[in-house]
Amino acid sequence: MLRRLYHDQPETFAFTPANQKWAEAQITKYPAGRQASAIIPLLWRAQEQEGWLTRPAIEHIAAMLDMAYIRALEVASFYFMFQLQPVGSVAHIQVCGTLSCMICGAEDLIGVCKEKIAGKAHALSADGKFSWEEVECLGSCANAPMAQIGKDYYEDLTAARLSEIIDELAAGKVPVPGPQNGRYAAEPLKGLTSLKDHESGKQQYNASVQLAVDIGDSVKRIDGTEVPLLTPWLGKGGSKPAATKKPAATTKPAPKVASVKPAEKATAAATAVKPAPKGKPAAKAKAVEAVASEGKKPRLMSAPRKAGADDLKLISGVGPKLEGVLNELGFWHFDQISKWTSDEIVWVDSRLKFKGSIERDDWVGQATKLAKGE
Ligand code: FES
Repeated sequence: MLRRLYHDQPETFAFTPANQKWAEAQITKYPAGRQASAIIPLLWRAQEQEGWLTRPAIEHIAAMLDMAYIRALEVASFYFMFQLQPVGSVAHIQVCGTLSCMICGAEDLIGVCKEKIAGKAHALSADGKFSWEEVECLGSCANAPMAQIGKDYYEDLTAARLSEIIDELAAGKVPVPGPQNGRYAAEPLKGLTSLKDHESGKQQYNASVQLAVDIGDSVKRIDGTEVPLLTPWLGKGGSKPAATKKPAATTKPAPKVASVKPAEKATAAATAVKPAPKGKPAAKAKAVEAVASEGKKPRLMSAPRKAGADDLKLISGVGPKLEGVLNELGFWHFDQISKWTSDEIVWVDSRLKFKGSIERDDWVGQATKLAKGE
């Protein structure tokens, strides 16, 4: 199935303040330079907030993670769990159409969706409240046929029950998820012969359903205020709210980019590490050490050449934000980057917010090819 961005996109996207804090806290889970690992949770939270993933949301998240936009789009378009078109304002219904469910009546459920919602999957109902799609096995085969609605599973469905569920949702109610035929969980239809503890009545529903009922956010749009923000990975053995903790605080602060002016003359590079005067081995050793820890300043340019700057975003791993930083540092062309030595890489890397991507993404190799027009 071809997954494309929807033709009609909103102008902008912003996380709610609580979701923004949550997203920033997620980034702190990963080591410096690996912040892109937070892409899926952030895209997912954007979808939970809006119902679907808009282009501005994908761009916003790519910028937050300092990723090239295309890489964020690759993730969003690869996984079917991300909805790339608007979904019903009340609920998006995902009917399982794989073997067990198909044998047990999935086609009838799809028939209900076609009749009550829209003739085609991913289209909105006339009132905009619902949308539906057929999905692959959701792992609830013992309770076939089933559908996922919002966050929860509605199992042991019949066409009549699904129809009622849609009506209840339209009326603002949230039907109790789980088996819809009176089963507790996935026990035999004729009843349990063992593991009968739940029959004591202590817990009305099976664990998943009980949790769904307790939390009550089956089809709710998540704005981040639902549960306290816990970031146990930031505190020693405890949970701390991340509200007072900025993600950057967990990583070694990078030297200020502003301290390196692009206008600095190229000749300054040569004097960055002065050779130690003859006869002073200690001073020489110190200078060598300084190069090892701080690197060596590459040749910088105060402005691009007359023909204009190269599009540094063509280097995988360089997004619009990083391109700006590179330009500010004095790099405008692929051939400049292609000539970086390992000491010079250390110098540049120490000035980037997220470390390690130069070598990890092989910017020098990429820039060499791009400079040759490949
Ligand atoms: S076949 Fe439908 S949940 Fe597995």
